Amino acid sequence: MPVTHDATHQPTAEPSATTTAAVGDEPTQRIPRALITALDTSPTPVDNSVDNGEQKSSAEPPAVSVWTTAQSSPAAQRKNKYTPESTAHPAKMLPEVVRHAVTHYTKPGELVLDPMCGIGTTLVEAVRLGRRAVGVEYEPHWVEVAQANLDLAREQGVGGDDGIDARVFHGDARQLVTLLPPEYVGRAALVVTSPPYGPSTHGQVSAVPGVGVQKYHHLYGNTLDRGNLANIGHHRLLAGFTRILAALRTFLKPGGHIAITIRPWREHAELIDLPSQILACGRAAGLIPVERNVALLARAAATDLVARGSFFQRDFIRKQREAGLPLHLIAHEDVLVFRTALHTSAGNCAAGTSSGEVVDLGQYRSARSARDGAGERGQAA
Ligand SMILES: C[S@@+](CC[C@H](N)C(=O)[O-])C[C@H]1O[C@@H](n2cnc3c(N)ncnc32)[C@H](O)[C@@H]1O
Repeated sequence: MPVTHDATHQPTAEPSATTTAAVGDEPTQRIPRALITALDTSPTPVDNSVDNGEQKSSAEPPAVSVWTTAQSSPAAQRKNKYTPESTAHPAKMLPEVVRHAVTHYTKPGELVLDPMCGIGTTLVEAVRLGRRAVGVEYEPHWVEVAQANLDLAREQGVGGDDGIDARVFHGDARQLVTLLPPEYVGRAALVVTSPPYGPSTHGQVSAVPGVGVQKYHHLYGNTLDRGNLANIGHHRLLAGFTRILAALRTFLKPGGHIAITIRPWREHAELIDLPSQILACGRAAGLIPVERNVALLARAAATDLVARGSFFQRDFIRKQREAGLPLHLIAHEDVLVFRTALHTSAGNCAAGTSSGEVVDLGQYRSARSARDGAGERGQAA
C-alpha cells in the first residue's frame, strides 16, 4: 500500500519535518500530512448525486488506501436494492466496495464493467451512482438475478427521466472479446470484479435442531461444469482469470482502472495468498498495478475494529487457537487496482472513437471475425 491513513483515524498532531528526520532509525515513520496532500494526485471532486432520492454527496471519498466498507452489515447495504433471490449467491461483493471504487475512479455517465458479475452488484451500484454499466456472467440463473436487480432499480426510478443504461450478457468471460458488442470497445472507465475462489465459499448458515449448524448457498452452480472458473482448480482459475484481464484491455479507455477485490483464504491452516497471485495475473495480462488497498470487512469503531466474521470463520479460528496455532480472523479484502496504458503502443492497430479516444482494435477485430467464422454468439439477457 502506498500510504495508509484511514479518515476515521486521523493523527491528532502532525510531526514536523525535523522530528521525522530525527527518528530516521525507527522502523516506521509517520508521513507528514502536508507531504501526503502535496503528493495526492486524486482527481478533482465530482458530483456523485443521482436523482433517485439517495443520499447526495458533493465530493468523492478521500484518497485513502483503507476503505471503510463495512460500517453497516452486508444485509443492510443490500436492503431494498436487491431481490430476495440474490441472497443465495455464494460470494457476493460488498456494495460499499463497488461504491467506493465507482465514486473514486469514474465520473457520472461513465461506463463500468464487470466480466463476472454474479447478481450484478457492480452494475446495480454503478447505475445507482449515475453511471452506465455492462456485465457478463456464466451461470444463467445469476444472469436472471442480475437482470432482476437492474429492473428493480428501474422500477424505483433510478436515473430519473433518462432511465438507466445497463446490460447483462450471458457467457464465458474468457471469450469477452467475442461476447460484447463493438459499442463497448474502448469505452469502460472502470472494471470492478472479483473471481470465484473455489468450489466452496462462506455462504449462509442455519442451526437445525438435532442436526447442528449447517451451511447452505455455499456452492457455485454445477460443480462438473468446467466453464465456471470455480470448478477448474486453482492454477486453471489463475490462467483463466489472466485471460479475462487481458481481454478487458480491449474494452477499457486508455488509462481506465480495474479494481479487483479478493481475500486470502486458509486451506487447513495454511494461508493462500490469492491477492499476490492475482497481482501476478494482472501483470501477466499487461496491466499496470497502481494501488493495493484494504477494504474492511469489519466496522471501524472509535478505538478498534468490530469484526463481522461468519460463524464458520470464528469457529475455525477458535479451534485453531485452542490447538495452539495463533491465527487471526480475516477482517479485510485486498482491492488491487490496475490501469491500462494511457496510449496504445506504436504499431498497434489503433482507431479514434467518436469521442476522440484512442483504442486498440486489432485484438477485437481478429477475435470477432474468428468467432463469426465459428458461428459462436454471446447472448444479451
Ligand atoms: C465472486 S463471484 C462474483 C460475485 C459478484 N461480484 C456479485 O457481487 O454478485 C464470481 C462469479 O463469476 C462467475 N463465473 C465463473 N466462471 C465464469 C466465467 N467463465 N465467465 C463469467 N463468469 C464466470 C460465477 O458464476 C460467479 O457468479
